[in-house]
Formats: sequence, C-alpha cells, structure tokens
Amino acid sequence: MPATYTELLDAAISHLEALKSQGTKHVAVSTETLRQLLQPPPKDPHSNPRNRANGPASQSVGDPFPFSQPVAPQSRSERDEGGRERAGVGASPPNTNPLPVPEPIRIPQSEIGNPEKSAAFAALRERVSVCVKCAHLASSRKNVVFGVGNIDAQLMFVGEAPGADEDAQGEPFVGRAGELLTKIIQAMGLQRGDVYIANILKCRPDTPGQASGNRKPTPDEMATCIPFLHEQIDLIRPRVLVALGGTAIEGLLGKTAGVMKMRGQWQTYRGTPLMPTFHPAYLLRNQAMTEKRKVWEDMLAVMEKLEIPISPKQRNYFRSSGA
Ligand code: URA
Repeated sequence: MPATYTELLDAAISHLEALKSQGTKHVAVSTETLRQLLQPPPKDPHSNPRNRANGPASQSVGDPFPFSQPVAPQSRSERDEGGRERAGVGASPPNTNPLPVPEPIRIPQSEIGNPEKSAAFAALRERVSVCVKCAHLASSRKNVVFGVGNIDAQLMFVGEAPGADEDAQGEPFVGRAGELLTKIIQAMGLQRGDVYIANILKCRPDTPGQASGNRKPTPDEMATCIPFLHEQIDLIRPRVLVALGGTAIEGLLGKTAGVMKMRGQWQTYRGTPLMPTFHPAYLLRNQAMTEKRKVWEDMLAVMEKLEIPISPKQRNYFRSSGA
C-alpha cells in the first residue's frame, strides 16, 4: 500500500481511538463512503507490506525500549473518567472520514454505558470529593485525586498516593512517574483512556514544614481511605488489577512481603487476578534495563491474561538489549 494511504489509515484510526476514549460509540458513514471502502486499497509496488497487528502504531519500528521515549501530553478527554458521561457522547460526528471504522477497539468492554453504574460512580466521586476523614490531609490538599479512565475498563492500575503534580491537577499519575506509566500503557498497545488508574490514597500525603517532597501514607491514612478504592474496584469490576509498588500491594492484599519478592507473581484480590509490579517512580530512580525489563515482563503476563494480542516486536522488547 502507498505510504500516504497507510499514513491516512493510521491518522483515521488514531482519530477514531480518540473519539472512542471520549465515549463516542458510533460514527456516521454514508452509503457512498461504505461502497468506496469496499474497494481494495491501492497497491504500491515500492513499499513493504505493513502489518498493523504487529504493534502499536505510536511506536517507531525497531525501538527496543518501549517506555524510554517522551510521552505526548494527555488531552483533556483522556482525563475524564467514563468519557461517555461527557457532553457530545453518542452524537455522530460529521462524516468527513473516508476510511473504514474499525471493529470495537482493543479490550472488549462489558456493560458499557450502564447508566446505573455511571450514576453510582458519580455518587462515589461526589462523596470522595468532600471527604474530610483525614483532617490534616483535607486541609493541606489542593484537590482530591479520585481516579481517571474508563469505568468499564478491564484493566486497572493502582498506585500509592498523589504527589504534588497530581494534587495540583486532580488527576493520578500526571507527573514524571505518570508519564512513564502512560508510556508503559501505550507500549501495551493501549491508551490511558482504555484503562482505569487510581491510588490507595485520594489525598496527597502532607509534608508539614517542608516546601516539597513526598512521604509514604501512614497505616491509619491507608485504612481510612481504602474503602473508597474497594468501592471503585467493585463498580469497575476489572478483569485484571496491577498494583504499582509496595504500598499498593500492601493496601490491596494486606501483604507486606515487599514488591521485590512479590512482583511478577499473580495474586488474587477478592477473586480478581492481581499482578504486583514495580512503581514507575522506582524505574525513574533505578534506570537499569533489567528493572524495566521485569516490569515489561509483568505487563506481557497481564496482556496474556487479558488475551490482548502480543506482537513479536512487543514480545522481544528488551530481548535484543541483553538486559
Ligand atoms: N505516584 C503514585 O503512586 N500515584 C500517583 O498518582 C502519582 C505518583
């Protein structure tokens, strides 16, 4: 196929994926466009055939380190949980797109658009947003950081607690560790809007007397806040959970064995498979390829569990580095 055709196809798919992450479920296509789409794509004798199933379009071919490149800033649409609750959802955009509408994208979703679930989620968000159970955190926070993503997601990531960036923006994992998490998600062939991301704590742990810095949540803070996370998980009902780092493992499983021992070994959270892995902040501190590779292997196991197709390129990330 000619390069322009492939580029247009990539652009159209990206556009449709963005629409989907905003909650759009249908796009209008005229009969004439459909007729044209049934024609075979033009042939290009000079270019190599390209198999889109061989990996996420966003990665350059041959990049063996899928989460070592900068991440594009997230759009507002990626930030809104259950995007379909937003204005314009369900409306068909004008038919300006001459290319095929692909089958539903990526992980199959269940219960999409269940209004009771959306309402329960909104009510939970409302309760969390006014929580003052930890008075010291309620008074120091700028924002409650409830969670972000698709409330019908089959995959949910759980971290520790908001940092300064998350507190300022009211969204989990938007700082440096968040950028790395986004890259990991993208390397899996997904977008942030396909998964759900939340933390054990919804407020930033305060650091009185310090202008900056983070601290680990206390056991009391965790015990106070975790019921909200349990409710989120109960509503979302993901097929797989990923616990990012020791605090998430401890909060969800009550196990203090430590992430070094537990990572890579499937656990069960109230019947749901849970993969413990390193926190992205750990990968920022420890740049060793061996550690990135461990996280990637954990993500491959998650993809297998979710039956997400794994391309040879994804399978072989890191292999060529000798890490
Ligand atoms: N680290 C976390 O554990 N959660 C965030 O939201 C950001 C950084």
